[in-house]
Amino acid sequence: MTPINIPEWQSLVRHYSDLKYVSMREQFALESDRVHDFSIKSGDLLLDYSKNRVTRETMSKLVALAESVDMTDWIERMFTGEAINNTENRAVLHTALRNRGNSPVMVDGEDVMPLINAVLKQMKDFCNSVHSGQWLGFTDKKITDIVNIGIGGSDLGPAMICDALEPYGIDGMSVHFVSNVDGTDLSTSLEKLNPETTLFVVASKTFTTQETLTNAESARAWFLKAGAQQDVAKHFVAVSTNAEAVAAFGIDTANMFEIWDWVGGRYSLWSAIGLPIALYAGMDNFERLLDGGHEMDNHFRTQPLAENMPVIMGLLGVWYINFFGSATQAIVPYDHSLARFPNHMQQLDMESNGKVTNREGQRLSYKTGPVIWGTPGTNGQHAYFQLIHQGTQLIPVDFVLPVNSHYPDLDHQSILLANGLAQSEALMKGKNAEEVREELVKEGYEGKELEGLLPHKVFPGNRPSNTLLFPKLTPEMLGQLVALYEHKVFVQGTIWNINSFDQWGVELGKQLAKAILPDIQNSGKVAVHDSSTTNLIKLIRELRLK
Ligand code: F6P
Repeated sequence: MTPINIPEWQSLVRHYSDLKYVSMREQFALESDRVHDFSIKSGDLLLDYSKNRVTRETMSKLVALAESVDMTDWIERMFTGEAINNTENRAVLHTALRNRGNSPVMVDGEDVMPLINAVLKQMKDFCNSVHSGQWLGFTDKKITDIVNIGIGGSDLGPAMICDALEPYGIDGMSVHFVSNVDGTDLSTSLEKLNPETTLFVVASKTFTTQETLTNAESARAWFLKAGAQQDVAKHFVAVSTNAEAVAAFGIDTANMFEIWDWVGGRYSLWSAIGLPIALYAGMDNFERLLDGGHEMDNHFRTQPLAENMPVIMGLLGVWYINFFGSATQAIVPYDHSLARFPNHMQQLDMESNGKVTNREGQRLSYKTGPVIWGTPGTNGQHAYFQLIHQGTQLIPVDFVLPVNSHYPDLDHQSILLANGLAQSEALMKGKNAEEVREELVKEGYEGKELEGLLPHKVFPGNRPSNTLLFPKLTPEMLGQLVALYEHKVFVQGTIWNINSFDQWGVELGKQLAKAILPDIQNSGKVAVHDSSTTNLIKLIRELRLK
């Protein structure tokens, strides 16, 4: 299936040529009910998508496109455990991990809910014993520090959630995330820690990831400078699908928390990969996160496409990427504790939809996933917003705005919110030449000086954004937000007819790194590479101190 050939896509191509010069500013002036028509609520979460380059006609054409690719059917296929990850012949069931209704979810004739519930129970018991002090370190001291060793999906999601749940952190418990194989990451984390009170969670779906295993081995060596081999069991637990490799590493499989091949790495924070979250913020709060994810799942599965938040966000993305030619999408949370939210979204989206081949293995002739990036507001305003306002590229922005802070004593929230709203208003409205002229005249400019400055102060405007507004960043809300973006990615993958759940594109680099490693470590003849790589290897050998 090639979406660009279907009539609904072609109709959007024609519609785009009519609409590309329509100004949102004028639309707002003419349409008093624009906000009402272009917003959706799911529980306490509001999506205001009125500041987009769309009309009612655009939205109905986009929804028709979603219908034409059988979106509702695909959603159901995912939820019911069909092997929609066709290149790995796997189901895609992160939604089952947060299936709080506990209705059966079948994979190959087996209901996976009992498996999921058993691991949740194991996590709960483990967290209780660590928090109560029943589980003690090798010198009978309470665990105070959790170090998660993992990378990609086994790091970014849980790290982002732990940051965001800082107000819910259990007293006396700290959490650290080590991902990079650069020794700086592990060394600087261990520097501050006491092996007697540190618990390592080695998190790797495959338990073959070079970076994670290298860091885990070095962490164990660090631990063994203080403790003995038999003490390792009290300080190392694992999360994985691969019991054999966990045992081979020396972790007691009784202390292993299982995940399954139908949980994609970047979708795994809801599984035992979320163990550091539960250890840090408590199992209750982890379950509240699952509840939020489940609420969004229900919305996604039951709401009509035109009132379905992930569907609408996904379609708007397609509108900009495939019709306006946007290459990137900024996600800007106006909440400092969501600093790592864009990083998690980056892996989620780019590893899922960074594809050039369709489900049937044919090379694509249209664009797929955008570059996802962002940092918290207001910091971004003083860094890259210049380009979003006046640069030559169209960069849609998602503003993520909690109304209330967890730190209300400092009366900063109104300023933060005012800035977030001001950015989206400025992007939409811009500032035209007459307005700039009026301002400059008021400021006392005239003549050549005024004419010279004027064009630089014009803002083109008509730049799209979504606003996601909610009362407060609770665990439930965080769950809703992450699930919203997961489903948005799936919606876009479905429109583009790609498999959003494999990631073959990361394999080549891994293979080549393995081949280059001996050339870096040894002094013999360098294996055959391209001349640039060979030259760089030789230079590295010369420059290395040991
Ligand atoms: O290299 C990409 C990747 O496979 C991601 O998809 C995954 O999240 C990450 O590596 C870590 O993998 P693992 O959990 O198996 O160590």
